[in-house]
Amino acid sequence: MGIALDIADDWDASLAALAWAVEAGVDEVIGDTPVNRYELAAEVPKPAARGAVVAPAVAAPAMPAVDPLADARAMAAAAGTLEDLRAAMAAFEGCELKRGARNTVFADGNPKARVLVLGEAPDAEEDREGRPFVGRAGQLLDRMFAAIGLSRTSPDSETALYLTNVLPWRPPGNRDPSAEEIAMLLPFVQRHIALVDPQVVVVMGNTPLQALTGTNGILRARGNWMQALGRPVLPMAHPSHLLRTPAAKREAWADLLALQARVRG
Ligand code: URA
Repeated sequence: MGIALDIADDWDASLAALAWAVEAGVDEVIGDTPVNRYELAAEVPKPAARGAVVAPAVAAPAMPAVDPLADARAMAAAAGTLEDLRAAMAAFEGCELKRGARNTVFADGNPKARVLVLGEAPDAEEDREGRPFVGRAGQLLDRMFAAIGLSRTSPDSETALYLTNVLPWRPPGNRDPSAEEIAMLLPFVQRHIALVDPQVVVVMGNTPLQALTGTNGILRARGNWMQALGRPVLPMAHPSHLLRTPAAKREAWADLLALQARVRG
């Protein structure tokens, strides 16, 4: 998306205008001065008069074909460790979301954990800090898992938690990610899960449910164990939903108890 921004001499006003533009979804700078494209419409060249000699159009040089999904697959497959994967994702240029993000939000917690939580995408706080689930929803998530004895700061694999998201970059204005964005980033998610090799994956929200299982409707799916990538998957309501709908916490508690029973057994 693009808009014309008139940057003032005043440093604070300029910074505020820029922050507003990024928040609104602007992700590219295309010129130093604003252009009124309604006026340009009047300058479209007129068709040549009959009989006039027209220079032949010069063919544009052929551009190499770019296939971001093939790039993502190759880069993910080549990552032998989590650090390789983090570097590969930070170097991946196929996704426009990266240009509007402050940070590539990779993961948090203990990679030896038995439970991996897969969320949707960074929000503003996560984008700023570069770590997943650090905002209000993340604080609720920490309290929920602490209630069954799991924590992202635990050094012990039995009580540890590992957190990551389908998307490492914040979509502008927190919009839902598109099907193309999810498909493009899926090779990284699959490799991430294979490298951590958890006993169980908890998918929190619609985006990870759709990405891993191809199913829609987290509120219908929640609490029903599924299978994906050769391991058990537990769909749960996203903590942002629980913040908006406190009555749903009761079901979330039942899901946490089911998880606890599964990882203990
Ligand atoms: N919501 C998510 O799904 N992931 C985050 O990291 C933060 C909020």
